[in-house]
Amino acid sequence: MDKIIILDFGSQTTQLIGRRIRDLGVYTEIIPGDAPLTDEVLGSKTQAQENAAHVRGIILSGSPESVYTPEGAVPDKRIYTCGLPLLGICYGLQRMTYDQGGLVEPLPAREYGGVGVNITVPPDISNQAVPFLAGFDRSIPLSRIIDQAASSPATAPAPPPSPLILPEGAMFTAWMSHGDTLTRLASGFREYGKSVRGYPAVVIHESKPWFGLQFHPEVTHCERGLEILAAFVFGVCACKAGWTMEYYLEEVRRFLSKRVGANPVLLLISGGVDSTVAGALLLKTLESDQVRLMYIDTGLMRKDETKTVKAALERLGAQRLHIIHGETAFLAALKGLEDPEAKRKAIGDLFITIQEREVARLGLSDAYFLAQGTLYTDLIESGKGVGKKAHLIKSHHNVGTPLVEAKRNAGRIIEPLDRLYKDEVRRLGRLLGVDDEVIRRHPFPGPGLAVRIIGEVTKEKCDILREADAIYIEELKKRGLYDDIWQAFAVLLPIRSVGVAGDVRKYGWVLALRAIVSADGMTADVYPFPMKDLLEIATLITNTVKDIGRVTYDISSKPPATIEWE
Ligand code: XMP
Repeated sequence: MDKIIILDFGSQTTQLIGRRIRDLGVYTEIIPGDAPLTDEVLGSKTQAQENAAHVRGIILSGSPESVYTPEGAVPDKRIYTCGLPLLGICYGLQRMTYDQGGLVEPLPAREYGGVGVNITVPPDISNQAVPFLAGFDRSIPLSRIIDQAASSPATAPAPPPSPLILPEGAMFTAWMSHGDTLTRLASGFREYGKSVRGYPAVVIHESKPWFGLQFHPEVTHCERGLEILAAFVFGVCACKAGWTMEYYLEEVRRFLSKRVGANPVLLLISGGVDSTVAGALLLKTLESDQVRLMYIDTGLMRKDETKTVKAALERLGAQRLHIIHGETAFLAALKGLEDPEAKRKAIGDLFITIQEREVARLGLSDAYFLAQGTLYTDLIESGKGVGKKAHLIKSHHNVGTPLVEAKRNAGRIIEPLDRLYKDEVRRLGRLLGVDDEVIRRHPFPGPGLAVRIIGEVTKEKCDILREADAIYIEELKKRGLYDDIWQAFAVLLPIRSVGVAGDVRKYGWVLALRAIVSADGMTADVYPFPMKDLLEIATLITNTVKDIGRVTYDISSKPPATIEWE
């Protein structure tokens, strides 16, 4: 299977590059920007001959750093001698320029957001440039760009789609975010596009398969972004699309059976899509009495969460499901705590204590494997698995508890979804027959309602919020809005506000509704709620949940706000 390697220099959008290319059906792997490019990483010639998964191109990501400072990570020099096609995006382009003797300097003012780019196609356009520039040509549909590779031998670059009718000076809207620019191109490079402010935006080497973009084609707001990536992946690298869920399922099942043998596997279930799909995968691959499932109900779950998870797993054939009811213990640990981080820590610590106690009670031999539904993004966000340059965004307690660490060190951890993104997990779940209800469920944070009750958490507040949240979600489903939204939930604010019920003056809690659209939770836009639905839902909540007197709608995007309130 063909694959594209992405060198991560720390940009917030590196993940998106991987996502988009996988959407095109080509497997991608993200590795640290300064990772050694060994034979193993690049795929040796023998492997390539055997048609094993091998690398067809390398993308250099963006970065918050500058190439001329020590913080700017430097790729392994082999990148410039290995002969593979290279695509530098933003910092990636600046990196290639700088490493090859060009000049990169700060801009007087950043270029940010939608920026017009003029493309210039000279009459003596190099052969190199034609298949790549097809990505910019509005007359060439994505399907034709993808087909280029299908119709050409995998070893030779695809012939250019002809005719290339990009008009001279064609302008399109790119998405940019940079404070540095190229002030002198490196030798052998030529400029094919300029931003409206006159800075180099598209740069291509005259003889080597090296390409550079000052903008971010991976961002959905970038015009022809997917086509430009496809032009590199299919037109330049001649990749064949071979990455499908069926392929992955077959491969991961083979791996699981071989790795686990007849040993027991304990899977930690959180109630979300990921761990349920991981459970389905284990249950459909191994003997059902080999698979032990453990779920801790913290009492901070959504309405009927435990019931739904239990039913879904039993339908998948789970026989050994260990549910621990921890509500009393968790509420006691949260008593008097108001600070969000203190709440998170209390929950995390107790979670670990209960987990260790309960695992010990199962009396499994040391040979057991610990499985969890960690995703590719979880590993990356926790700074694990992708090396030292990955930015630590938040720590998930399921990625790094002492139990997990101990099993990881003993080489007995299994994370069968760790190469997948969220929507790929959903596709895998459907393939495995997981209930649609579970698969479509919006993400839910580990600390649960505790971070959606601002201030101190009490049982009474949990019950009020659970009820209001359930009405909100149920209404979104009834109105056909649920699947348009990436995550929706209610937040209970520590504010009482005056109202009138009948003729009586009363003080009710204020509830905030949140609904966002997002690709992966890293950035988010506010869901543009139809006003009629919003008003009706708010009325239904205040009429049904007597302790809530007022409802507001949160209209903050991420950034600058986060998705959760705490
Ligand atoms: P934020 O609030 O950081 O949320 O914009 C991004 C995504 O992560 C979820 N989230 C968490 N998940 N433990 C988790 O397991 C946490 O402490 C946590 N905080 C936020 C959030 O629901 C959203 O999907």
